[in-house]
Amino acid sequence: MKYFCVIGEPIEHSLSPVMHNAVFKKHKLECKYLAFRVKKEELENAVRGLKALGFKGFNVTIPHKEKIIEYIDELSKEARLIKAVNTVKIDKKLIGYNTDGIGAVKSLKSLGEVKDKKIIILGAGGAARAIAFSLALEKTREIIIANRTLEKAKKLAKEVEEKTGVKTHACSIDKKVLKEKIKESEILINCTSVGMYPDINSTLVEKDMLKSDLVVMDIVYNPLETRLLKEAKKAGAKIINGVEMLVYQGAEALKIWGVEPDIELMRQAVLKELKQ
Ligand SMILES: NC(=O)c1ccc[n+]([C@@H]2O[C@H](COP(=O)([O-])OP(=O)(O)OC[C@H]3O[C@@H](n4cnc5c(N)ncnc54)[C@H](OP(=O)(O)O)[C@@H]3O)[C@@H](O)[C@H]2O)c1
Repeated sequence: MKYFCVIGEPIEHSLSPVMHNAVFKKHKLECKYLAFRVKKEELENAVRGLKALGFKGFNVTIPHKEKIIEYIDELSKEARLIKAVNTVKIDKKLIGYNTDGIGAVKSLKSLGEVKDKKIIILGAGGAARAIAFSLALEKTREIIIANRTLEKAKKLAKEVEEKTGVKTHACSIDKKVLKEKIKESEILINCTSVGMYPDINSTLVEKDMLKSDLVVMDIVYNPLETRLLKEAKKAGAKIINGVEMLVYQGAEALKIWGVEPDIELMRQAVLKELKQ
């Protein structure tokens, strides 16, 4: 039996076990995926323990994605740029990857190219950072990072541009500014927690800022259709919900561990769990 898991705190609501075990079960693989709550001060011991117990790989979630780097032997290019790891392969050495950004890129690519596109990202936290770097690695034309704390957006934009060469700048989330920036963009991605349960009526983007020739992705998956996505749909835009990023980042993790993903099965497993 090959063992995998996710470590984080809190961990009770993680959808990863359901998503990965669905693949293992359907394809009759001798694999099992577990979830462990790990406190910050126990992170190093937990990593040593997983290695000692013969785990083949694990996912890392909040609050350990940055700190885990101290205990990893090798980092992928994305993980090095993003400075965060969400997937680890144990193969004598510990190799750290970041599949969050590429998960978002892959879900966007299911609707069309991202190369040469002008993209506006709302937020400058962990998810925004992973997505901004992964989009830049796909050679997008330009990235705008809009954030409530403007300084954070400026810092991230500077880093993305310096390290990838893709034109990236920052702006505030002031309605007038956002309206103008969205008008110039082809893809909008909400990487803030605005609109997430229980604040389901919140949005940073008003109806009149949206347009039909826009792809709108919201990485929030609870609710499945956020207010932003509802309004984007009404405006005639193409929409992508947060489950897609979750599924594609999981699929990339499975590939790293040598397991063939099953996107539709993983999507259905997550959707079923969310409905319960
Ligand atoms: N679908 C997926 O697979 C997936 C993966 C990762 C995360 N997520 C979701 O993405 C969201 C962000 O996650 P994260 O890890 O990036 O969190 P994070 O690092 O804490 O960043 C949160 C971001 O949201 C902004 N924000 C929070 N409340 C706001 C408000 N009331 N008005 C304006 N901006 C606000 C913050 O702005 P400031 O900088 O000004 O504080 C920051 O940019 C969460 O809802 C998380 O569940 C989904």
